Amino acid sequence: MNKIIEKKQLNATNILFRVEAPEIAKKARAGQFIILRIREKGERIPLTIADWDKDSITLVFQPVGKTTNELAELKVNDKILDLMGPLGTPSHIEKFGTVVMIGGGLGIAPCYPIAKAMKQAGNKVICIFGARNKELFFWQDKFKKVSDEIILCTDDGSLGIKGFTTDGLKQLMQKGKIDRIVAIGPTIMMKFITLTAGDIPVVVSLNPIMVDGMGMCGGCRVLIDGEVKFACVDGPEFIGQKVDWDSLLNRVKTYEEEEHKCKINLQ
Ligand SMILES: Cc1cc2nc3c(=O)[nH]c(=O)nc-3n(C[C@H](O)[C@H](O)[C@H](O)COP(=O)(O)OP(=O)(O)OC[C@H]3O[C@@H](n4cnc5c(N)ncnc54)[C@H](O)[C@@H]3O)c2cc1C
Ligand code: FES
Repeated sequence: MNKIIEKKQLNATNILFRVEAPEIAKKARAGQFIILRIREKGERIPLTIADWDKDSITLVFQPVGKTTNELAELKVNDKILDLMGPLGTPSHIEKFGTVVMIGGGLGIAPCYPIAKAMKQAGNKVICIFGARNKELFFWQDKFKKVSDEIILCTDDGSLGIKGFTTDGLKQLMQKGKIDRIVAIGPTIMMKFITLTAGDIPVVVSLNPIMVDGMGMCGGCRVLIDGEVKFACVDGPEFIGQKVDWDSLLNRVKTYEEEEHKCKINLQ
């Protein structure tokens, strides 16, 4: 059982939980995630470890369906049945030169530990964040401490560049050399960032359906350079230029009908 020690509504859609989990916090590295179950017969859902300290880990999530809505109902001092992790291969961190972190919507939070580690490794870190409107950005003060520049893009033009993260990237590419891009967000955003980047290596964090998170069920299989890989153990990070985006976009829609029925039952 893991106790929730802090709960914060970051904006209209994102909730932050700080959860007691000393064993996971001790081993956590940038790019890793946990799988949680709220109760015994509950679904297992993966969430990225967005930050951690000695005894706790921070999760940022968006209630989108049955389990994340149930999670959102929990309060400080409530307990989550179990957290499994840290899972996944940690991000590849080294001194690349100029690293551009791109976060779309909920992908902003998982950028934090990677930006921090890239900065500590001596990189110049530039963040490009995208959201529908200015109200949806969060953690800007936290990101200022681990980056050299932050570029904001909004769909409605309420802050920064009016447009998508791809527009922010196009403008940045005209200004100078970029050595590596890390993009986290909706699958379609990561695909278009990869297409925009040309031959600049783009690391993407894939989010196919995961069940066991340990490479045994095959639920999270993705095609990378023509080979089957399991995102939970071989990833979740892969080089975007090697991802078969069309097969991934089809797979993430596999359970749309069942998820829709779950949402109807929630009402
Ligand atoms: C490695 C990884 C890290 C993630 N990190 C975060 C995070 O930090 N914050 C966050 O809000 N979300 C994160 N997600 C997505 C999150 O797991 C889903 O939003 C959640 O599982 C939805 O469950 P649900 O029952 O509420 O919704 P459902 O109605 O069941 O599903 C809504 C959508 O969530 C996705 N989803 C559903 N079940 C799973 C599953 N078992 N595995 C993966 N995706 C699923 C599907 O795309 C689906 O269309 C991550 C996913 C992965 C794979
Ligand atoms: S989630 Fe089962 S193999 Fe990856």
